[in-house]
Amino acid sequence: MELLERQTQLEELTRHVREAGTNAGEIAFVGGEAGAGKSVLVEQFTRQAGRGVRVLWGHCDALQTSRVLGPVTEVLAALSAASGTAGAPSLSREQLFSRLLERLSPPNPLSIVVLEDLHWADEATLDFVRFLGRRIQRTRCLLIVTYRDDELTPAHPLRTVLGELTGEHAARLRVDALSLAAVEQLARGTGRDARRVHEITGGNPFFVREVLSAPLDTVPETVRDAVLARLMQCSVAAREVTELVSLVPGKTELSLARALLGDVGAAADEAVTRGLLRYHDEALAFRHELGRLAVESTIQRARAQGLHQDILRVLVERGADLSQLVHHASHAQDVKALLEYAPRAAQHAAHAGAHREAVAHLATALRHADSLSAPERARLLESHATECDTTNQVSACLESANQALTLWRELGDTAGQARVLLLLGRQCWKSGETTLADGHVAEAIALLETLSPGRDLAAAYSARSQLAMLGKRVAEALEFGQRALDLAVASGDHAVQAHALNNIGTTLLCSGGQGGIEKLEQSLAVSLEHNLQRHAGRAYANLVASLVPQRSRLAERYLSEGTAYCEAHNVEELLPFIRAWAARLALNQGHWEKAARAAARELERADALAWERLPGLVALALVRARRGDPGVEAILDEAARFALPTRELLRVGPVAAARAEVAWYLGDLKRVAEEAAAGLEAAVGHRDPWIQGELAYWRRRADPALQVDPELVAEPYALMIEGDWEGAAAAWQQLGMPYERALALADGPEEALRESLTILESLGAGPLTAIVRQRLRMAGARGIPRGPRASTRANPAGLTSREVQVLALLVRGHTNSELANRLHLSTKTVEHHISSILEKLEVHSRTEAVAAAFGLGIVKAGAAGEASGAGGR
Ligand SMILES: Nc1ncnc2c1ncn2[C@@H]1O[C@H](COP(=O)(O)OP(=O)(O)OP(=O)(O)O)[C@@H](O)[C@H]1O
Ligand SMILES: [Mg+2]
Repeated sequence: MELLERQTQLEELTRHVREAGTNAGEIAFVGGEAGAGKSVLVEQFTRQAGRGVRVLWGHCDALQTSRVLGPVTEVLAALSAASGTAGAPSLSREQLFSRLLERLSPPNPLSIVVLEDLHWADEATLDFVRFLGRRIQRTRCLLIVTYRDDELTPAHPLRTVLGELTGEHAARLRVDALSLAAVEQLARGTGRDARRVHEITGGNPFFVREVLSAPLDTVPETVRDAVLARLMQCSVAAREVTELVSLVPGKTELSLARALLGDVGAAADEAVTRGLLRYHDEALAFRHELGRLAVESTIQRARAQGLHQDILRVLVERGADLSQLVHHASHAQDVKALLEYAPRAAQHAAHAGAHREAVAHLATALRHADSLSAPERARLLESHATECDTTNQVSACLESANQALTLWRELGDTAGQARVLLLLGRQCWKSGETTLADGHVAEAIALLETLSPGRDLAAAYSARSQLAMLGKRVAEALEFGQRALDLAVASGDHAVQAHALNNIGTTLLCSGGQGGIEKLEQSLAVSLEHNLQRHAGRAYANLVASLVPQRSRLAERYLSEGTAYCEAHNVEELLPFIRAWAARLALNQGHWEKAARAAARELERADALAWERLPGLVALALVRARRGDPGVEAILDEAARFALPTRELLRVGPVAAARAEVAWYLGDLKRVAEEAAAGLEAAVGHRDPWIQGELAYWRRRADPALQVDPELVAEPYALMIEGDWEGAAAAWQQLGMPYERALALADGPEEALRESLTILESLGAGPLTAIVRQRLRMAGARGIPRGPRASTRANPAGLTSREVQVLALLVRGHTNSELANRLHLSTKTVEHHISSILEKLEVHSRTEAVAAAFGLGIVKAGAAGEASGAGGR
């Protein structure tokens, strides 16, 4: 079959495979709507790839809940078959990932790995894509991922993966509809009116082919009509086979068809000849998923139910994948089977890290749980709540946990109640309901204290210590942390030990106490020793979050170690938090572009919870405010909407401090005082000298007569408040925080002001620069250096107005020659502008430049909708 209008994509893929073979591995994401021709494009490409190249396929299919690691195990099996080595059925997920990485890396020969239809992938498979994607440069592999871009809802998990894997080794290709000219070419000799066909099909290649070959007099109006016209022509036997195959997403083993329909040889051949099905080794599959759906939709409900029951029976005998069993049990309405397989499938999924699939399986089971006994139902609800907690589905978790709690109460199961209360406590904290959270955890402790002390009580103490740590209630955090630690050591529970040490260490570190870092490092050591990956990730996360305000360099070390660790072990849930702190660290260190870019990338994630977004929001707002860019208020308002009602210093403090700072630049001292006071109010009875210091500093700026207890604030702030600008400047220098140093110097005499100005100009600061200039003028200074040209200064990153124009067109996905046309420039000049933009934004590719443009607020977010294929994100 000849492929029309795909030359560009084929050439691009060829470039990528060449690069992967000679230099460094690459990823190509191939997107397009259903039937656009992604699969045939990749098939054609791999056929041309040449002899020495191994081509390995893995498929996702449209099961009710996806197979866990389905495509990944297929790839490993194909690799093993290709190299004549044994497959490895019992590998853990981590072993599986590294085994594959090893086999795809030098000295192994070049491979093309195709993962098809990733919009249906389970969470663990997406983790694999991240895992391989992050290391793709060191492999000798071209990873091709196909997906239907019209299925990516804003919260679709594949979106996050696509957003993360960018840069020079990751390319996006789009497979578009066919033009009228192509449809004319295909229609030649069929007697069909090409214009009409193009109109009905919108140029969708699958639809076009179906319409053109449909055995009808008129042009069929839908894909379904076209497919069914073929089906109508089949013999009864061929139709039966086709219908059976339509009930099995993916492919149907021939042996399954034989077990149910007897000898299907001739009937299957006929369905293949009629262009409905195709052979796939020892299996049958639809030529296209859209065809499968069309045929499936014609089977009457009761008949389909019976057939699913038959399929289930055979699959159970063969020990098929649990997700398949759940799929057929569900469509057969076989409650008994569902209640048997769905919880098992959930357990299997959770074990492999496919928590979203675990949630889905448990939800399926819960829909049919009426017949279960109360304890069985309670356990199911509790599992569902636990998995929802892991996947941050807060409201679903609350619902199941509350139901489970009622059941455990009725059953008088103390331990069960306590476990669920701890879960509820965590959800309440996530959603900002801190008082409720404290209440749940206190109740859990009260219940567990009636039993003999053990692991559960240790975990509950540690949960209370954690909430107190987050609430900055120092004494309580330390007391319950210690109780948890003692019990955990006595009962040999390393996880609780790591958790408690973490709470104690974080509390000490943030409250200015001694030994915090050591405790956190002990927590890390225990976690690493016992391979407690989440706890290790949490130790890194809290080391980073606590150290960022006070010890930039150490924070930087743990940041890179922590990121590497979490990426290597796919501890995905902590990465957003760590990355958000990376944005804040970059801001503190004066790397503003980097900060804005990192924050914007995190804020784009649709699945982030409000509390995870906070540090990123604050960092982005401060970059913009300090530069004098617009769009600050909206960001801080979003942050405040979530943070203020919690009344927690951890959340309220940074937002209030940022709002006070912004008000100060606007010269609104009344607001400075109000905002800072709101933050300090949340600080009463709590302790975090860094947050308190920042708040007290702004409060004092608005009200110089105010008394501040120097004991309560971190030293550099205390020095600024005391008016020791020199001491403060030195302290900020020591901490590697240039903007704060400039802020301190701004209170000094002429020489200090001049130094402040130099720092601020090199940072690209706006409002404070103006203030310092003003002060210099007032001090009667002469020869104050002039700022950069007005239009350049107005643009962050020092872009010229021409460069901003170019960037705005890049965002809309224009090519270089289109740019040249529009701006009446030569393409050479356009290229020159683009490389200057990339340099100023500190990025490597046009896609990254587009991301940076949003992050820095250079172009409005609304323009994203206009972004088309090439730069598409
Ligand atoms: N460039 C093309 N020229 C002509 N026909 C094409 C072209 N691309 C696709 N087709 C036809 O469209 C059919 C569907 O293509 P394909 O199966 O590759 O779609 P897909 O994008 O993979 O869809 P899905 O998302 O459902 O997997 C092919 O079998 C082929 O008949
Ligand atoms: Mg396909």
